[in-house]
Amino acid sequence: MSEPLPPLTAIPPGLSSLSAYEARAAAHMAADAWAYLQEGTGDDITMAENRGAFDRSRLLPRILADLRGGNTTLDLFGRRHASPILLGPVAYHRLVHPEGELATIRAATALGTGMVISTLSSFTIEEIAGAAGAAARELGMLVPPMWFQLYLQEDRNFSAELVQRAEAAGYEAVMLTVDASIKRATLTLPPGVEAANLRGMPRRRQTADAGGRILFGTPLADMAPRWGDLEWLRSQTSLPLLVKGVMAAPDALQALSMGVDGLVISNHGGRVLDGMPSALEVLPAIVEATGGEAPLLLDGGVRRGTDVAKALALGASAVLLGRPQIHGLAVAGLAGVAHMLHLLRAELELTMAQLGCAALADLGPDRLFLPPQ
Ligand code: FNR
Repeated sequence: MSEPLPPLTAIPPGLSSLSAYEARAAAHMAADAWAYLQEGTGDDITMAENRGAFDRSRLLPRILADLRGGNTTLDLFGRRHASPILLGPVAYHRLVHPEGELATIRAATALGTGMVISTLSSFTIEEIAGAAGAAARELGMLVPPMWFQLYLQEDRNFSAELVQRAEAAGYEAVMLTVDASIKRATLTLPPGVEAANLRGMPRRRQTADAGGRILFGTPLADMAPRWGDLEWLRSQTSLPLLVKGVMAAPDALQALSMGVDGLVISNHGGRVLDGMPSALEVLPAIVEATGGEAPLLLDGGVRRGTDVAKALALGASAVLLGRPQIHGLAVAGLAGVAHMLHLLRAELELTMAQLGCAALADLGPDRLFLPPQ
């Protein structure tokens, strides 16, 4: 098997879309890291749906709009975001680049883009915040909004400690991911890549035991987070709290009733339960049920500026990118992530202008074409 190519040091002309980055990325990654990144689960029905839902949806422009003063800015939890595109939590960036999350956060800083750091990051919470601070000083920019994504740990005290560390390091929100506690672990980490935040913590990931049990009755099922854990987490932090992995309106309502500040409508990039619909397709019901009570973010399959516009037109406040940030990082490190973000932002601006939208607030359901029934 051939060795992965090193990251590029200059961006070649053909790299002009997120799909071009994806096509290029395989050559820059070890085969098992590529397989881990790209995988869905089961028959990949849900992963295909994530793209399919965007591809099926149609945009409807309005003409002769006044685009002067147009912008893509978004205010979320008291912070201004340059655009409604954030980097979502993805584990182990060092799998594809030696500078891992440090390179990704530098790119996010340069582009003023919010980033959600995974519990399973391959540099620590503090190291990543430090890199953001240094890059911001160097570039004369603000530190971008940084949020911490929490996977609840068996030892709840350790979870609380992670949240406290994130708060102390300047993270501005906590995102609890609830859809992946029951998930196959498919990757053996290569030397030099570890869950840096979890150093010293015993990890137990078993699905079978000597008693012949499969999942029920094993620690994996017994320790899975429950509603009471969300209540507990809410009491642990005064930062804005989001829940990631919501797909059903009653769950959205229950989470909000427990004091959650935002929701991420997500099927985890099609990596957990195959057969789920896309986040885009369940979004309208959740928008209707929650009635604008809290920001709804969405992820899964976002690859084009038109995808961002479609999600916002259906009521999302912002979108998260998963795999594309790793494609950019593998292909060209910091420059690759920054360029990938720039491409998507440029596509979004173009789409908004062509739809006749000078601001994100103009992106409403009237910009979507619904075929006559
Ligand atoms: C993820 N995702 C994820 N989510 C999370 O909350 N914590 C995590 O550590 C990870 N890790 C992770 C690793 C890899 C390799 C992938 C591909 C995904 C899920 C991620 O945040 C997001 O929901 C999806 O990736 C979005 O779909 P797209 O943009 O990849 O299609």
